[in-house]
This record gives sequence, structure tokens and C-alpha cells, in this order.
Amino acid sequence: HASSKGGYKHYMLKEIYEQPAAVQRTLNGRISDGRVAVDAFGPQAAELLAKARHIQILACGTSYHAGYVAKYWFEAIAGVSCHVEVASEFRYRTTVLPADTLIVTISQSGETADTLAALREVKARALGALCICNVPTSTLVRESDLAFITHAGPEIGVASTKAFTTQLVALMLLVLATGRRQGTLSAERERDIVQQLGTLPALLDGVLALDKDIERIAEEFGEKHHTLFLGRGAQYPVAMEGALKLKEISYIHAEAYPAGELKHGPLALVDNDMPVVAVAPKNDLIDKLKSNLQEVRARAGVLYVFADHAADVRPEAGIKVFPMPSVADEVAPIVYTVPLQLLSYHVAVIKGTDVDQPRNLAKSVTVE
Ligand code: G6P
Repeated sequence: HASSKGGYKHYMLKEIYEQPAAVQRTLNGRISDGRVAVDAFGPQAAELLAKARHIQILACGTSYHAGYVAKYWFEAIAGVSCHVEVASEFRYRTTVLPADTLIVTISQSGETADTLAALREVKARALGALCICNVPTSTLVRESDLAFITHAGPEIGVASTKAFTTQLVALMLLVLATGRRQGTLSAERERDIVQQLGTLPALLDGVLALDKDIERIAEEFGEKHHTLFLGRGAQYPVAMEGALKLKEISYIHAEAYPAGELKHGPLALVDNDMPVVAVAPKNDLIDKLKSNLQEVRARAGVLYVFADHAADVRPEAGIKVFPMPSVADEVAPIVYTVPLQLLSYHVAVIKGTDVDQPRNLAKSVTVE
């Protein structure tokens, strides 16, 4: 039965472990001859993606964080300007849409009241509306011009895990299809990124093997009241998602900051009682990030760093380093999400919270 715990202690842990297979399902049938099958987004997709001059992403919660990662991708890979906003803000303010804006909504359930309301409010002014959703029979799918179903399978844990990583895969496919239709992405780069996506199931399996190491250090978070998550570039929204997971299920206050903004405030909070978690793959910003981490160390902050070998972050007193596989920049946000899910999960288990049904939260917020 698809919605039993299958030997896992919680649905959340089961769903974390399902990610290699879920990501594979999201890719299945969406690739053709090493490139994205543009019509996987629907028959009108080729035309709409070619015409779009601007992308406006609307979503809530974890789905908003997926959109935030995609904003980096749309501009860097497809060369199309992109904004992302939480639906509850967008729906109630006066908005100015650039000409030929494609609305992209993201929702696991397809029933989130604010996301639906934002879509209804904006639709008539937009070029079209595309949704990325996990539930094919949902209201959101029905009300959108184009729909892409993630095929993550049913997600029971209130804290979203496999829905998020599969949304990221779907969004990358959308970015590639957009770049192709805009003529801004070479066939060679598209093939290269498609190939990277194909390696994700194996990469995620490798990252899941860090589970025991993460479980071991989770204890160090049990008595803490505040934590800081740092990332830069497309890893900043990964840090945001890591912080959201921790607060949702462990009830520890967690905040994410783009590391370059540390000195504009959060550095004042850093002491040896506030763990600082950083996602640090080797990329163009790694040296900048490492100097941000030094600033934290200089204030006695204790660092937990997820980094690959090439990032060359050395473990020492006050710096714990978790070895990540080396991955292409484009797919790194998907890979670095998983250890942060495991961290929150183990901290919550130590704290004895109701992991799958955290207090005051609902799986799907269908009323305002
Ligand atoms: C609730 C859930 C979150 C989810 C958010 C958006 O807050 O607890 O896990 O990310 O709603 O839900 P959606 O179904 O629109 O992705």
C-alpha cells in the first residue's frame, strides 16, 4: 500500500528515502533523445514558452522555496527574467506585470487557497498560466492552461520532502524547455544538464548514506533555541528550506540568510550557543562563502558545513564538515536539500515531537 510506513518510523523518513525513485519518476517520459520533451508541459507549451518575456512564480511554503531556486535557474540558464513571490502577498497587492508574462504556480496539493486566489487574480492579465503540481485531479491543474505533474507519489508527512525535490526537477525541465524555445540555450548545454539530471537518483542514494553521521550530530541541536542556515546563490533558497524544515518539525527557531548579508545583522546573534549550518558546494562563490564562515568562527559560532571535496572546507575545532559528492552546479540545490531534511528529521526525533503531524500545521492550507 502506497501510504503505509513500509518499515520506517515516520512517513517523513520514508518519503526522504523515496526521493531517488520519486525523482526518477518525474524524469520518466519527459526526456527524448537526451533533450527535454517540450510537449511534456502540454500541447501549447512550445508556443507559450517561446513567447514568454517574463516569468512570475507564485507559491507558498516549501513550494515557494522551489520557485526561489528556479528564479536563479531561469535567469542563468534560460536568460529570461523571473520573479518569485509568496501567493498570499501577491494576491493582495497591486501588481504590474511586464508584457507577455507567463505565470508559473507551484503546489504539492494543488489546493492551497492563496496560490489558487493569486492565480485567479492575475490570470486574465498574463500570457498564460502553467502549474507544477503533484495531484493531477487538483483545482490548480484544472484552472491552469498547462500542467506538469511531478509524480512524487502521495506525501503524508506535513513537512514536505519528496514533493520539493521533484518540483525542483520539474522546474529545471521547464527552464531547459524555455531556454530551448527562446533560443538562449545551446543544445549542447541542454544535453549536459539533462545528463546531470539523470545522475540524480544515484547521487541522492549516495547522500542518504550520510544519514548515520547526521543522526549522530543531531543531538548537538537538541538543547538549542536558535539556528542559522547559510547559503549563497541558488543554495540560499536551499538554506531557507533547511531552516523551514527545522522549525516546522523540531520547533527550534531557524533562520536562513544569504551568507553575504551576515554582517548586516545576524552576525550580532552568533555565539557558541547558536549552531550555524552552511551549504557549501564548490562553485564560483565558494571563496566568498568560506570567508563568511570565518566571520562566524571568529565569533565562536559552531559550524556544520555540507561541502564537497573540491570546496576544501577543513574540519577543525568548531567546524564539522559533512562530505558531499561532487555535483554539477545546476543540480547541486537538489542534492544539498537532502542532508538538511535528514538533519531536521533527527533533531525532531530527539526532541520527541510529532514528526509527521507538527503542532498547529496542516498538510494543505485550503482556507485562508
Ligand atoms: C503547508 C504545508 C507545506 C507546504 C505548503 C504549500 O504549509 O505544510 O508543506 O509547502 O502548505 O502547500 P502546497 O500544497 O501548495 O505545495
